[in-house]
Amino acid sequence: KNMTDPKAERTFIAIKPDGVQRGLIGDIIKRFEQKGYKLVAGKLMWAPKELLMNHYKDLADKPFYNGLVAYMASGPVFAMVWEGKAVVATGRKILGATNPLDSAPGTIRGDYCIDVGRNICHGSDAVETAQREIALWFKDDELNDYEFADKKWIY
Ligand code: TYD
Repeated sequence: KNMTDPKAERTFIAIKPDGVQRGLIGDIIKRFEQKGYKLVAGKLMWAPKELLMNHYKDLADKPFYNGLVAYMASGPVFAMVWEGKAVVATGRKILGATNPLDSAPGTIRGDYCIDVGRNICHGSDAVETAQREIALWFKDDELNDYEFADKKWIY
């Protein structure tokens, strides 16, 4: 696989426990699908605390860190890998601003939530972060390499 191909960029997207409980898995997948991105991996997973602490390790000194890890560990998360041109930055736009009070209507957070501590979804903030997060949440053999409609109909 040619990872220098811009269409091969990948991001890690997770539907947090509140998103799962509120029945938003389908809606969130739909938004990435209808945009034209390719689903590479997806699984429902009750994440161990150690994984979540590692995932958010850059925030370890923040006052909200313990609460954030507890919230993420409060139920299953739907973890995904999406692929396509500029999917990291565009995925963040689809999610909306971190604080749902600042997220534009039409974004996932803008449409569905109010509280920064219950903001429904996660998306990697940079290509390097995405690579780290994908490796943390998925084994190599869980990443599906397959031909997708993008070849002719999206690009
Ligand atoms: P951050 O990495 O800053 O945002 P993002 O998820 O958009 O990349 O923060 C990670 C998560 O921490 C964020 O999604 C929600 C939570 N959080 C709080 O609970 N309180 C806060 O004040 C901030 C900034 C984030």
